[in-house]
Amino acid sequence: MLSEKMQAALNAQINMEFFASYQYLAMAAYFESENLMGFANWMHMQSQEENMHAMKFYNYINDRRGRVTLQALDMPKTAWSSPLEAFEDALKHEQKVTAKINALVDLAIQESDHATNSFLKWFVDEQVEEEANVDAVIQDLKRIGSASQGLFMLDRELAQRGPEEEAE
Ligand code: FEO
Repeated sequence: MLSEKMQAALNAQINMEFFASYQYLAMAAYFESENLMGFANWMHMQSQEENMHAMKFYNYINDRRGRVTLQALDMPKTAWSSPLEAFEDALKHEQKVTAKINALVDLAIQESDHATNSFLKWFVDEQVEEEANVDAVIQDLKRIGSASQGLFMLDRELAQRGPEEEAE
C-alpha cells in the first residue's frame, strides 16, 4: 500500500506532468503562429511525451491499489519573445520537474517504499535526457544568434523528431 503522503505526492506529480504537456502544447502553438513548423513539431512530440509521463504515474498509483485524483491545471504561458526564450523556459521547467522527482525519491527512501523507489528510477534517468535534449536546442539557438538561415536549418532538423516508442 502507498502511504497517504506518497499517494498525495504522486498525484501532485501527475498534475505537474500534465501541466508540462499543456505548457509544451502552448509552445507548439506559439511556434505554429511564427510559422516555425519544425519547432512546433518538436513541441508536439514533447507534449505527448509528458502526457505519457503523467499516465505512467496514473498507472503506477492504480497498480499499487491507490486512488488517482486529478487536479486543476494552471494556465500555461502562451507568448515568448523568441525561440530561445521559449526553450530557456522549457529548461527551467525541466529543472523543476527534476527537483520534484528527486524529492519523490527522497520520500520513497524515507518511507522504505522500495517499489516506488524502483519505479522512480526510470524518471531519474529520463530527466537527465530531457534536460540534455532541451539544452542541446538552446546551444544551437545561441550559436545561430540572429542568422535566419541557421534558424531555418534548425527548424528543418527539429521537424525530424518522431514520437517516442514507449510501452505501458
Ligand atoms: Fe516529464 Fe519533461 O518531465
